[in-house]
Amino acid sequence: MPNYGEFEYWDERYAREPAAFDWYQGYTGLKTMLHRVFPLESRLLQIGVGSSRLQEDMVKAGWQSIVNVDYSRVIIGQMAELHKGYEQLEYSVADARSMPEIEDATFDGVLDKGTLDAVLCGEQSAAGAAAMLAECYRVLKPGCCLLLVTYGDPSSRLPHLAEVPGWAITVWAVTRQEAVEALDAEPVVRPLLKGPYPATNADCMDALSGLEGMHFIYVCRKEERGEPGDADTGAAAAMAGAAGFGLGEEANNAEGAGASVD
Ligand SMILES: C[S@@+](CC[C@H](N)C(=O)[O-])C[C@H]1O[C@@H](n2cnc3c(N)ncnc32)[C@H](O)[C@@H]1O
Repeated sequence: MPNYGEFEYWDERYAREPAAFDWYQGYTGLKTMLHRVFPLESRLLQIGVGSSRLQEDMVKAGWQSIVNVDYSRVIIGQMAELHKGYEQLEYSVADARSMPEIEDATFDGVLDKGTLDAVLCGEQSAAGAAAMLAECYRVLKPGCCLLLVTYGDPSSRLPHLAEVPGWAITVWAVTRQEAVEALDAEPVVRPLLKGPYPATNADCMDALSGLEGMHFIYVCRKEERGEPGDADTGAAAAMAGAAGFGLGEEANNAEGAGASVD
């Protein structure tokens, strides 16, 4: 398997294949959740932008400010050149595990599609994932969200999110792009049960069955410290085994109203 956790791999890949490539999902599959979570006037940070065109499609849909970072200088150079006519898009080199150049609580939203997955392929992957998620938390304003798009189901991703106390998390599933294209259908986005997912709980296993054709979207809201409900909604609580298993108010409403979800 390629070493997705090393920046040398990405630099070499982008030098060899400069063409656009979107991992997992493009704008079509994500637009429902993007509109639900990020108001158009948000100042957004996308970590590990790669050769994705998601941010370009978001600007065409009305978003006004997206800062894009990647630790590959090669791709940041290419993307900055490609989008030099877009005043809404900025590009800079940064390692998402440590971004001292970004001040605390300066973004209204953070977007990650595939970067946590890449970090989890690297050496000291758990520490790297924890550092990256802590940085996402730090740069977000209180009450704002990290939107994490991944192939990883809740049993594999909630433990990493739980390393950063203070997230209120809901999990969604979206049809894989390949299936949507094969069937020439609209992508389906649906709320998924909130954790925990112990292997011994038959209901949990039922809930997680039939998800092979799905990607997962974690909407992680930065709670105000001491905000009522921290203990009930944070990732740590989600993993702690308390009730909280089911499609509650939070799963339906946490990111704001208005989007239709099939
Ligand atoms: C799987 S690709 C996803 C690219 C893009 N977000 C997409 O959805 O098409 C992962 C990207 O994350 C970048 N990356 C991996 N680890 C990183 C880190 N620690 N800091 C910044 N970028 C990173 C890689 O260079 C690569 O561009």
